[in-house]
Formats: sequence, C-alpha cells, structure tokens
Amino acid sequence: MNRLQSFHEVLIPLLVEAMGVTTYLELGTDQNQTIGKVRCPRRIGVDKAAALCEGAIMFSMPIQAFIGEKAGSLAPFQFVFIDADHSAESVGQDFRGIWPFVEDEGLVVLHDTNPETESDTDPGLCGDAWKFAHDLWLRQHHDCYESLTLPYHPGLTLVRKRVSWGPPAKFADGKHTSLTEQGLLAFPCCPPQRRQRSRLAWRTSAPRRAK
Ligand SMILES: C[S@@+](CC[C@H](N)C(=O)[O-])C[C@H]1O[C@@H](n2cnc3c(N)ncnc32)[C@H](O)[C@@H]1O
Repeated sequence: MNRLQSFHEVLIPLLVEAMGVTTYLELGTDQNQTIGKVRCPRRIGVDKAAALCEGAIMFSMPIQAFIGEKAGSLAPFQFVFIDADHSAESVGQDFRGIWPFVEDEGLVVLHDTNPETESDTDPGLCGDAWKFAHDLWLRQHHDCYESLTLPYHPGLTLVRKRVSWGPPAKFADGKHTSLTEQGLLAFPCCPPQRRQRSRLAWRTSAPRRAK
C-alpha cells in the first residue's frame, strides 16, 4: 500500500471535486502544494508568506487578521482546509475563528491530526493538533457538527457543519447498545502484544519527562 505522507494533496482535490464545491478556502498554503491542485470556481488561500497561485485569490497575511478583516466579505465557504500552525491551541483558534463563515453543511478539514508515533508530535511536524481533533470528536453529539479522523498518518479530520439530521438510528429493541454488546459483532482483536504498542497507549499514558 502507498504510505505517501502527502496524501492530503491527492485526497482534498478529489473531495472538492466529488462534492461539487464552489468555494474553497485554505489557511496555510505554503508553496500551494494543495490549493494549486484543487479545481473549483473560487479558491482562496491565506499564508503569512503566500506564493502566487494562478486563478486563486491569495492573501499574504496572518490567519487571524484574515478572519477579522477579510473573511466576512468573502464568505460563506463550502470547504475550508486548515493547515497552518499545528499546535492544538492554534488549530482551535483558526477553527473557531473561521467556523461562523462556513456554509451550512460545509466541510472543514484539519491536517496532521493522526500522528503515527510520539516523535511525529514534534511541533515542527504534526504538533499536538490531534488533541483538538480528539476533543471535537468527543463532543460532537452536543451541538451542530460531526467529525471523523481518517486513521492514517499524518491524519485528516473532516468536520461537517451539520444542520440537518435524519431520524435517530435505533436498534430493533429500542436500546442504544452496540452490536458488539449485543453479541452480534464478533470482532477479532489484534494480538495483545500489538495492542500494547498501539498509538492510543502513548496518547493516554502520562507524559514522559525530559532527561
Ligand atoms: C504545513 S505548511 C502548509 C502546507 C500546505 N497547506 C500543503 O498542502 O502542503 C504551513 C503553512 O502555514 C503558514 N502559517 C503558519 N501559521 C500561520 C499564521 N498564523 N498565519 C498565516 N500563515 C501561517 C506557514 O507560513 C506555512 O507556509
């Protein structure tokens, strides 16, 4: 299988095309590796050192300034890709800032939210963006969105601004127990020695002290 770290450069243009997105915004565009491949009528990019990108509207400025000064007049955005500073705090700030300008049923995608190893959480790599994505996922049933993280390094989290909900899914007996609890899904777990090395183990264990 292809373990391409930059799979977002392939997947995001495909998603944009498949969903028929007409307004795409990317926060943190670097050398336009992704926005340059996206095909949609209106592309907007923001970076503190934005490079020119043919056919796209590019803003060379801090993201928070863009949100405060420009986003309102360009909104609503149907698809937003957040790929700037990967600390949980910054991702949260960018996400909360742009959220009011996202169209109903629109999608916000966060990058680097599923690091493979602890060393991948270095601030220069994925940082701790995964913490923000994990928090979103934990709280998602409380209000107006749903999210999921693709379980593949370095990770993409898709957050749908969901305003329409169908009738709640119910099991035949009316109880919201899982199929596994009902004995309907016998899931073969991985062997114990592999489970011990799972990513969740390092995520949930106490932080290691620096020597
Ligand atoms: C990981 S790169 C973006 C990669 C690109 N999106 C891609 O698809 O490959 C992160 C970019 O975010 C920009 N950036 C980080 N923090 C920023 C901020 N607060 N305001 C504007 N740009 C920022 C950096 O200049 C850098 O170019």
